[in-house]
Amino acid sequence: LVVIRYEDIGRAVREAEYAVRGPIVARAQELERQGRKIIYCNIGNPQSLGQRPITWVRQVLALAEYPELLDRAPAGLFPEDVVAMARSVLARSPHGLGTYTESKGFRFVREAVAEFIRARDGTAADPEAIFLTDGASKGVQSVLRILISDERDGIMIPIPQYPLYSATITLYGGAQVPYHLIERSEWRLSREILEGSFEAALAKGVRPRAICVINPGNPTGSVLDEANVETVLEFARARGLSVLADEVYQDNVWLPGDRFVSFASVLERRGMKDVSLFSFHSVSKGFLGECGHRGGYLECRNVPAPVMDEITKLQSISLCANSVGQIATYLLVRPPRPGDPSHALYVKERTEVLETLRRKAEMVERGLNAVPGIQCNRVAGAMYAFPRITLPPGVTDDEYCLALLEETGICVVPGSGFGQDPGTLHFRTTILPPMEEIEAVVKRIAGFHAAFAKRRGG
Ligand SMILES: Cc1ncc(COP(=O)(O)O)c(C=O)c1O
Repeated sequence: LVVIRYEDIGRAVREAEYAVRGPIVARAQELERQGRKIIYCNIGNPQSLGQRPITWVRQVLALAEYPELLDRAPAGLFPEDVVAMARSVLARSPHGLGTYTESKGFRFVREAVAEFIRARDGTAADPEAIFLTDGASKGVQSVLRILISDERDGIMIPIPQYPLYSATITLYGGAQVPYHLIERSEWRLSREILEGSFEAALAKGVRPRAICVINPGNPTGSVLDEANVETVLEFARARGLSVLADEVYQDNVWLPGDRFVSFASVLERRGMKDVSLFSFHSVSKGFLGECGHRGGYLECRNVPAPVMDEITKLQSISLCANSVGQIATYLLVRPPRPGDPSHALYVKERTEVLETLRRKAEMVERGLNAVPGIQCNRVAGAMYAFPRITLPPGVTDDEYCLALLEETGICVVPGSGFGQDPGTLHFRTTILPPMEEIEAVVKRIAGFHAAFAKRRGG
């Protein structure tokens, strides 16, 4: 009797790494089974750390999933605008949410996404260039899939990066082309570094085909300004690259002087017709935190129809994005309007979530920077801090994070999982633990750091 062996499975699968759910997390789960309390700071999964869902989203989803409630719910349980929204969803998906949808996703949701982009950026968007996806992840994977034929196809990715990119490029057999962000200047990117990375790839026989940018940044927590976005677009134009703009944290900007600038808005303002842009958004982050609902979209600009048809084909091979996630995306881009019965509660909940996250970003940054041997850039956006740690020679960030887990129950991800400059060590923590725990988490990290460094000869 011969069962499948590990060696039998695809090499690309074996080689792909995904640290955010890697061995340290597996150990955390084991400790939890043994009865230890674990604080999961390894993944940007807000509701798993107590963030409450937005009522508007859940009420409409409940009615859309179970239309009988429209007749049976006690009067007043669902506000009128929620009922109207659910009815309009059901009118446009007449067989309910249990059917496959169009490959690209519900047309009415794509129209609402286009309107959302128009309102955000002041430029038109085409519903036919929008694809609804199972989270942003699937959109990113579709675009990487169409760009990569073999190991000579390079995809430029930031270092540090979110490992969806490195893992997917490995999975599809392409080449990662790293470009380093500048830690000492708040993780900005520079044209010179982009050019250097491009040239280095060419020298290795790799032809870069696209550049990925994550803004606001994961794991860096940085927010790009308009000049930085322009730098990327101009570089892409000069070098004939497509741009993948991962904008899932667009609502998570914490510093008063900063604002989110979309790649689409800069592309249009500069009238660039010769750069292909793929932008991604998600229901998982922002203030919805609906990670489990797997909703998101991909928007294409300057992408010819035959290429978009291939993306549609990819979507159709897995039929369509899940219908509930599509409706969650609808509710992200089409919130209650001023004057609607749900509006006040919606604004209150949104403000609470975002203000709490803003305070936590500040607390984590300040707390970490108070620890000798830990240096943290501004947590200007997104949901993470990526502090640099000074450790005795020979000690790795993997060892550090494992010891932190064993001794404190705090689960973070080693910097090596995201990439870091040679000779530097980091870890990534989310800013998501509940307010009443976050101070204690930072204190425990501080206590651990001092004891660990001393024990290991620092
Ligand atoms: C930068 C970035 N892009 C994409 C994703 C994927 O999000 P989802 O697939 O849940 O939309 C994440 C999740 O953490 C992320 O941090």
